Amino acid sequence: MSADPVEIFRQEAADLLEALEQALLDLERRPGDRDLVNTAFRALHTIKGSGAMFGFDDLAGFAHEFETVFDRVRRGESHASPALIAVALNAQSFLRTQIETPDEASPAIGDGIRRVLRRPLKVLGYDTQRFAANWKNYHENPRDSFHANILHTFYGTFGLSRQAQESAMILDDHGRHVYFYTKVGTDRASADYAETAATLRSHNPDFRLEDTRLLKWVDEFGDGVNMQILTLYPSFVLHQVCNSIAVRQLVPRSPTSSDLHWTYLGFADEPAGMTDTRLFQTNLVGSAGLVSMEDTAVCEMVRRGTAGSGEGEASFMEMGGKDLTSGGSTKLSEKALRNFWNTYRVQMGL
Ligand SMILES: [Fe+2]
Repeated sequence: MSADPVEIFRQEAADLLEALEQALLDLERRPGDRDLVNTAFRALHTIKGSGAMFGFDDLAGFAHEFETVFDRVRRGESHASPALIAVALNAQSFLRTQIETPDEASPAIGDGIRRVLRRPLKVLGYDTQRFAANWKNYHENPRDSFHANILHTFYGTFGLSRQAQESAMILDDHGRHVYFYTKVGTDRASADYAETAATLRSHNPDFRLEDTRLLKWVDEFGDGVNMQILTLYPSFVLHQVCNSIAVRQLVPRSPTSSDLHWTYLGFADEPAGMTDTRLFQTNLVGSAGLVSMEDTAVCEMVRRGTAGSGEGEASFMEMGGKDLTSGGSTKLSEKALRNFWNTYRVQMGL
């Protein structure tokens, strides 16, 4: 055995993770078994404590949050439902990544997740959206920060998202995961901007909505960000658009069809009025909402368009360079798209 204390920690943590995994798998069959809940809790508690001791601070922080969930189960405030066990098994796998390859654990992206999913949640509803495109067609969508202003003219017209607004795009070190955000009302009104805006049909201050409820939102996180779209490679999207919060899981069905499983979320402690606002905004960014129908319609058009190309032929419009880091830190960049395809190509050996 190695005498390196960090190596000893890794070996001990590997044993604890194995015990944790077994306890979770057994809990699936015996959800009321308190011994199994205690085993899971103790494993997490020890991983947290010794992780912090050996400098694995991100690991310790994550294990602490994971442990808190099992403490609630232990105290009878929550139960080991199949959904909880499924999430816990993924979290166990993430702990393994944090121990074995900590550089791949993407703390920057965690900030984007924690910014939105900050309090105990409640599920407002589920649905599934089926569309006739390859899963990779869809993946381009939440990574393409340009398309919102071109495709979804509603956003530009009513100021919910414009390229002149303060924005940022954050990728993990490997370019697999990304989030970007914009801040409504921060448009920089330069002469150049005014001249360009005057040529856009969608940019017309005379356009008004009879019912303005879709435009009303509460800055509930206090940072002015009205839109944050976060994508984890290869199959997960979290959005906050105004007060709509939802996760999407992308499931390939065939080379030409995919499903998006939507889960709409609110916070367990929110007033009923806020829940109503979130549900109302589903008309814009829910699976049957204006924006989401436009997204999947374009994915289908892109799939049909690329299917028409002959074998070995390709055509594309290059925007902002060719490398994986161009575009600075604003969302005016297609680096998230390039990194997606780069990750896919490397993983597939293409
Ligand atoms: Fe979109």
